[in-house]
Amino acid sequence: MCGIVGYVGDKQAYPIIIKGLKRLEYRGYDSAGVSIGNKDGILVLKEKGKVADLEAYAADRDSTGSIGIGHTRWATHGVPNQVNAHPHLSGDGKLSLIHNGIIENYDSIKQTLISKGHTFKSDTDTEVLVHLIEYFKEKEQVNLFEAVRLALNHVVGAYAIIVMEQGINNEFIAARKGSPLLIGIGKGEYFVASDASPIVEYTREVVYLGDGEIARINKDEELDIKTIANMSKTPFIEELELSLEAIEKGGFSSFMLKEIFEQPKSVIDTLRGRINPETKEITLGGISDYEQKIMNADRIIIVACGTSWHAGLIGEYLFEDLARISVEVEYASEFRYRNPIINENDVVLAISQSGETADSLAALELAKEKGATLLGICNVVGSSIPRLTHAGSYTHAGPEIGVASTKAFTTQIIVLTLMAIKMAHKKGTITMKKYHEIITELELIPEKIEKILKKNDQIEKIAAEFKDATNFLYLGRGYNFPVALEGALKLKEISYIHAEGYPAAEMKHGPIALIDDEMPIVIIATKKGNYDKVLSNIQEVKARGGRLIAIVTEGDKTVKELADYCIEVPDCLDELSPLLTNIPLQLLSYHIALMRGCNVDMPRNLAKSVTVE
Ligand code: G6P
Repeated sequence: MCGIVGYVGDKQAYPIIIKGLKRLEYRGYDSAGVSIGNKDGILVLKEKGKVADLEAYAADRDSTGSIGIGHTRWATHGVPNQVNAHPHLSGDGKLSLIHNGIIENYDSIKQTLISKGHTFKSDTDTEVLVHLIEYFKEKEQVNLFEAVRLALNHVVGAYAIIVMEQGINNEFIAARKGSPLLIGIGKGEYFVASDASPIVEYTREVVYLGDGEIARINKDEELDIKTIANMSKTPFIEELELSLEAIEKGGFSSFMLKEIFEQPKSVIDTLRGRINPETKEITLGGISDYEQKIMNADRIIIVACGTSWHAGLIGEYLFEDLARISVEVEYASEFRYRNPIINENDVVLAISQSGETADSLAALELAKEKGATLLGICNVVGSSIPRLTHAGSYTHAGPEIGVASTKAFTTQIIVLTLMAIKMAHKKGTITMKKYHEIITELELIPEKIEKILKKNDQIEKIAAEFKDATNFLYLGRGYNFPVALEGALKLKEISYIHAEGYPAAEMKHGPIALIDDEMPIVIIATKKGNYDKVLSNIQEVKARGGRLIAIVTEGDKTVKELADYCIEVPDCLDELSPLLTNIPLQLLSYHIALMRGCNVDMPRNLAKSVTVE
């Protein structure tokens, strides 16, 4: 949700900021803007649309200056237009601010400021914040650092901000609460960004600003950090592990396609070092101190959003089926507001690619208050969820930039599988034979995914047949029911075709009424699931004229006779089949979206990292 970048040093700020904004565009892309400081003051350039639109707009402007801030927006307050785009200026035009997050009490602050003579140009909560800072600066006659601190003491909500001041071209102020922000330390220069991708090509030394911290960032000085409560903090410098190649397209036409094709490698990276090659024992270092707690938990409550929630559902099947631990899977946004019963014997597990999703974070905060043990499965190292939880495991899938989640989902299932069989093994709820069977199968998953990716051309042809459909139904049972949900979500997200995922057997209680000879139905009918039952569901669809695309096990003959199109996946244990069946559905959505002229990496209205409620 919104990406922010800042640079202060001796180089030209504008190109660094534009490049950084392009890397952060996955966080929002309805408008963009920059403020550049130079001897003439602050130049503000803003435009509706993507960063490329801003670049075109700014092309013939003199953007010289070695301090600057930039923003790419996902609108919350105020429609996406030039006026509402960030940066926003104070009333006197001397302060310029960019913001990621939401100021919840902006309206009451705005009314107070209006009563004191302030006038506002935009509909945003952000403009209110910069006016509030200006108000304190004048009223208390303090410097910007102190004015930001005083203002933030009156703010309720989430923010990552950078504020710069006219005439001060060697320093700006950054602060965060609830939204991510890190500071890259160069030689005589600093970089600030929502994630590491705009920073990594310049420096590997970073400081993750803590919640409720404010930094004075002066190019000629050490970082000066204090809390909103005015306590000094010593910066904790960390080394970035991210590589530059990982955040570039590497010859693919889109990040989504790259990330789909990366999955064999992502799975290997997720498994790396976690299965002992001789004993086959699983080590998940991040949760080792909490294994007893998980084993003896009354329940595991999984909280997540979007695709990560679908991975959570697969986790439920895995933990209950294999480790006999009771699991509830909750939409984080619902969980936090329904007064849930949580106690000290519960383990609350948040699954999140970004590690920043506001609803998931808030659900964890609630669980923390109630004394539960908090675990996380996240992809972004150092993000907020891993910082909040007691323990957890990273997916190590590498940066996922396409807004529609692909490799993060697959690797979340891998980590859930490792956790579940580790617990099952410790509890003795599966036999050694079964344990070894699952491990052997897990190690074969990368090559099996590779085999499915070779069917890309076949899947593209099927996509061409269905690209003009207006509705899709996705059906699956057991372990593959969440895959049906995820398949439908993927299609909706990137192609804007309405799609529903359903448990195949539930179809007869409603969605069957939708089936006619126009309706494509994607059904997962692999051999080891409830195959016979799914066959009956296929018959029910056929009897009503639906057009069937079936995901089947290699060599299947029965479904082939019934379905219009079959996509084969290699044979696999039922428990691990989502790792395979999910792949053709990603490719199907990808090709359909592309054929419909949609931007697969930046689908309309969506953002990758949802840091607002
Ligand atoms: C957004 C993204 C989805 C993602 C969801 C949860 O809606 O567009 O792809 O699944 O957020 O994000 P998280 O980072 O918590 O997994």
